[in-house]
Amino acid sequence: MKLNNHVAIVTGGAMGIGGGTARKLALHGAKVLIVDIEEEAAEKNKKLIEKNGGIADYLIGDVSSESVAKEMVDISVSKFGRLDIIVQNAYGFSGGGSAVDIELNDWHKGLDLLIGALYLGAKYSVPAMKESGVSPNFVQNKWEGFGLRHGHSPKENIGRIINISSVHGILNAPNSLIYETGKSAVIGMTRQMAIDFGPLGITVNAIAPGHIVTERGNDQWGKTGNNEGFRLFELQYPVRRTGTPEDIANAISFLSSNEASFITGQTIAVDGGLSIQLQEDLVMDLKNYISSNKNLRTHFDINNESRDRW
Ligand SMILES: NC(=O)c1ccc[n+]([C@@H]2O[C@H](COP(=O)([O-])OP(=O)(O)OC[C@H]3O[C@@H](n4cnc5c(N)ncnc54)[C@H](O)[C@@H]3O)[C@@H](O)[C@H]2O)c1
Repeated sequence: MKLNNHVAIVTGGAMGIGGGTARKLALHGAKVLIVDIEEEAAEKNKKLIEKNGGIADYLIGDVSSESVAKEMVDISVSKFGRLDIIVQNAYGFSGGGSAVDIELNDWHKGLDLLIGALYLGAKYSVPAMKESGVSPNFVQNKWEGFGLRHGHSPKENIGRIINISSVHGILNAPNSLIYETGKSAVIGMTRQMAIDFGPLGITVNAIAPGHIVTERGNDQWGKTGNNEGFRLFELQYPVRRTGTPEDIANAISFLSSNEASFITGQTIAVDGGLSIQLQEDLVMDLKNYISSNKNLRTHFDINNESRDRW
């Protein structure tokens, strides 16, 4: 139980990647506060965690609002006694399109959630993590021999901030200015926060998931995709599969643990190798598959919109 006696906030923890993360952190012993706008799903996930012997509660609210960011931290401390980990994962679609298409209101709303919420989460979590002090399971290493320190031992394992970016933060897709801007900014923001909070003993890392089939994703695939389309997705991954919420939750629980205290400011792509490939080779590899499966459909085919751009 590597997270025994730890307390974690998971935003967007009712379902999807956040849902899987809340369950995984609880399985490792953390008390988890789910913060989400979907009450029914949050209640369902809390019950699932409790059924498996874990401890969880939820707060219903929009994490891009300052009062909710403050309240989630207050509740974590008043109800569970401390705060060690925050996973900043919540997301809801706020409009696609290029700079020409997007309305100013959607731009602000989208970025308020994609990056504003992460700033607010850190603003209120960091003081609470400082106040909570060192991780309950941490025994400070003795520094001796080579690498002997010339000063006091550094602060370690005070807290963890884990921001969810995306492969869309590393590589950009067309007609998606808000999402691509937001997810790239998460990577820069993670580095900045890592520098600012490292001396306090708080590490800050980001995860960039590839295509993760969540409850919502599964619905969408069911409505608009077919087996040939899903296989096309799998073939784009060197590991020949898409991801599950648990794949991301596993990386998050490692980054949350004391073993990860020398990793900070990093964006770890948990994407089965999707983002390491050279696109022009990949496209040529898939050419025969696509031309011999002319009726393949993916969730890009929603409303039969054409993706042709030339
Ligand atoms: N699923 C993927 O393939 C994938 C890939 C890369 C990155 N991601 C990222 O992972 C994160 C989770 O995505 P997901 O696919 O699990 O999404 P999801 O839609 O399944 O879950 C998102 C959760 O966030 C909640 N939420 C939405 N707006 C909120 C708000 N304003 N305040 C609080 N909660 C809110 C939703 O109710 C939901 O429970 C997102 O940051 C997303 O960008 C997902």
